[in-house]
Amino acid sequence: MTQLTSAPSRGAQRNAHDADAAEPAVQIRQLNKHFRRRDGSTVPAIDGASLDIQDGEFIVLLGPSGCGKTTLLRSVAGLETPDSGSITVRGKAVFDSGTGANLGADRRGLSMVFQSYALWPHMTAAQNVRYPLENQKGARQGRAVMNQRVAEALEAVGIGDLGGQYPNQLSGGQQQRVALARALVNNSKVVLFDEPLSNVDAKVRESLRIELLAMQRRFGFTALFVTHDQAEAMELATRIAVLDRGKVQQFGTPDEIYARPATEYVAKFIGNTNELSGRRADGGYETPLGLVRTPQDVGERATVLFRPEHAQLSRERPEAASALAGQVVAVLFMGTHTEFLVRSGETRMRIWVSGRSTDFAEGDEVWVGLQEPDVMVFPRQDHDGQPEGDD
Ligand SMILES: Nc1ncnc2c1ncn2[C@@H]1O[C@H](COP(=O)(O)OP(=O)(O)OP(=O)(O)O)[C@@H](O)[C@H]1O
Ligand SMILES: [Mg+2]
Repeated sequence: MTQLTSAPSRGAQRNAHDADAAEPAVQIRQLNKHFRRRDGSTVPAIDGASLDIQDGEFIVLLGPSGCGKTTLLRSVAGLETPDSGSITVRGKAVFDSGTGANLGADRRGLSMVFQSYALWPHMTAAQNVRYPLENQKGARQGRAVMNQRVAEALEAVGIGDLGGQYPNQLSGGQQQRVALARALVNNSKVVLFDEPLSNVDAKVRESLRIELLAMQRRFGFTALFVTHDQAEAMELATRIAVLDRGKVQQFGTPDEIYARPATEYVAKFIGNTNELSGRRADGGYETPLGLVRTPQDVGERATVLFRPEHAQLSRERPEAASALAGQVVAVLFMGTHTEFLVRSGETRMRIWVSGRSTDFAEGDEVWVGLQEPDVMVFPRQDHDGQPEGDD
């Protein structure tokens, strides 16, 4: 019988009688996958990636185009064979280069929702949802049981009355629900999503996100969700894995990743930043705009970053740890905040003040104040990505 309606709340309700409840939902260990390009060069699409995903989590794989998100997701799904490493799904080794284990996609106990939803256009919503049941390996259920499960799945995602419609007769949001019903009809405990919201416009996308989260909480499945949209990642994720050229740069909660980015790459990818070059000095780093105070020491030369919303503007030199002088060259009202573009020599900084601010105007001489905890410093990289020597 379907368990669609028995819904644990988000965040792993562990049942002592459930033998595999203590197992991580998905465990990825030292995974590698290279592709060979037609010119003979190789691309490290996944480069030593490891992730431990707990039951009931909503994990987002985030990174720019080409960083390996789809390849990692398809490797978990069993649609791509990694070169080495291992993948465990709810305690079961589905891939292990050491032992040679490599289960087919239909035997991994997970479902995937694709970017375009991949609904069959010639099948109704109900036929699309029934498809995985009909093509299931092993014991096939009777028609009546299958029909009942399809009806329950459609009902559960809120489109019980649309089973007879064809995909082209459904809105983007309704198609997403069909795709989700199809992913849930097998009672999959792990659902993989490859940018499922990228085909709909911004407003619809926002409401679909909220619905998706609500359904994930209701059904209690573990989600592994790919996107290159950082706002989407922040909103959906219990934890975000930031990928760069096949490597996991940081794996943490949205808060951690925003407030304590592990690398310059992560700091710049999540949120907005102002950047200054710094040289180690007494109490911090000397920048072209003056001393930026910080207790952190990352070597002789550093990239000093701070976020537009973390700086304070004032007319008088502030009491803040660091004070940088400049001139307002533009004022832009953005709705939720006002952006002041402040210039000093060659350096331009964006400073955000919440709401509509008329405190400063173009041409005003101002001070930019920074508190120590809001300053991020990273070793300055040369063009090869190596820290520069102390010169
Ligand atoms: N079948 C393939 N043959 C050769 N190279 C491939 C193949 N599939 C992916 N790649 C390469 O592997 C890298 C990672 O690709 P992948 O599709 O995983 O990126 P992605 O992060 O999903 O990007 P996007 O956001 O654009 O979807 C890219 O450099 C890509 O060109
Ligand atoms: Mg992709």
